[in-house]
Amino acid sequence: MRSFLGRDILSLKDMEREEYFQIFSVADRLKPFAAERRNGDLLKHKTLLTAFYQPSTRTRLATEAAMHRLGGHVLGFSDAKMTRAGDFYQETIKDTVHMLEYYGDVIAMRHFQQGAPHEAAKWSSVPVINCGDGWGEHPTQVLTDLYTIWQQKGHLDGLKVLCVGDMRMRTMHSILYAFSQFDVEAFVVGPPDMSLLDEFKTELDLLSVQYQEKEDVESCIADADVIYMEPVVQADYTVSRDEGSKDKGLTPPAYRVTRELLKSKAKSDAIILHSLPRMDELPADVDSTRHARYWVEAFNGVVMRMALLSLVLGAIE
Ligand code: CP
Repeated sequence: MRSFLGRDILSLKDMEREEYFQIFSVADRLKPFAAERRNGDLLKHKTLLTAFYQPSTRTRLATEAAMHRLGGHVLGFSDAKMTRAGDFYQETIKDTVHMLEYYGDVIAMRHFQQGAPHEAAKWSSVPVINCGDGWGEHPTQVLTDLYTIWQQKGHLDGLKVLCVGDMRMRTMHSILYAFSQFDVEAFVVGPPDMSLLDEFKTELDLLSVQYQEKEDVESCIADADVIYMEPVVQADYTVSRDEGSKDKGLTPPAYRVTRELLKSKAKSDAIILHSLPRMDELPADVDSTRHARYWVEAFNGVVMRMALLSLVLGAIE
């Protein structure tokens, strides 16, 4: 197995099966720090640099919280407008990263351009963690999600996962790549104008990912062990900031998971994950059903980032 020491976490396309389980095992080991709300000293000599060119609540703060839980230091920016990359100079990724690598030991980057963290990794002497790149990928979120499913179900092989939402979304790309390493069957449901791109489907076929495209949630929810959601009332992920209009529209019933639908059609033990933020595709009254796991998922976001930081910084083998 490849070492994680010094490794960039950019994509799940090339992550191997045993590596997922290694990450899950490290996450299990570090979880007590987060669960007991205490900070250790595993990374006390290390500094995390967060370079966020796009808004974030969960990913940036969970990564920063993870570093604090491990006794490390954190600095960074959450709005590129406050840097030279976001003003008159439009400083390049290459030049920016040449600076950032002097200030910290690992860089967590979110960017509106697909491939920006990959470009950063080319020029950085310290590991780069992709925290979401345009419509590209969101590997740390999906590692969190797979860890949550694995914890809750006890296994990944043999599961049927209903993926519903905008299929251009970076989480959908990462999770479908990840399914190539497990015996998982996916049902993919999204609006025609947000469906999987042909080039991505070609990649999935090459990776032997088992998936079927379906028209609506109702047609396949009864078979799903896991319901994995994203909005279809969606922001434009290719810009640094999308305020949206006041009237954002409503999610068509075909892409919603409601309490009523869960009661009438879902498996009794089906679980729902949503990386959040949500719109009306997942009404708040689902939160109190036995199916909801998105708050566990949110907690695991800290645990997973603890595992990844420890691994790429060599604190744990
Ligand atoms: N799930 C997720 O990426 O959330 P943020 O955009 O708040 O980081």
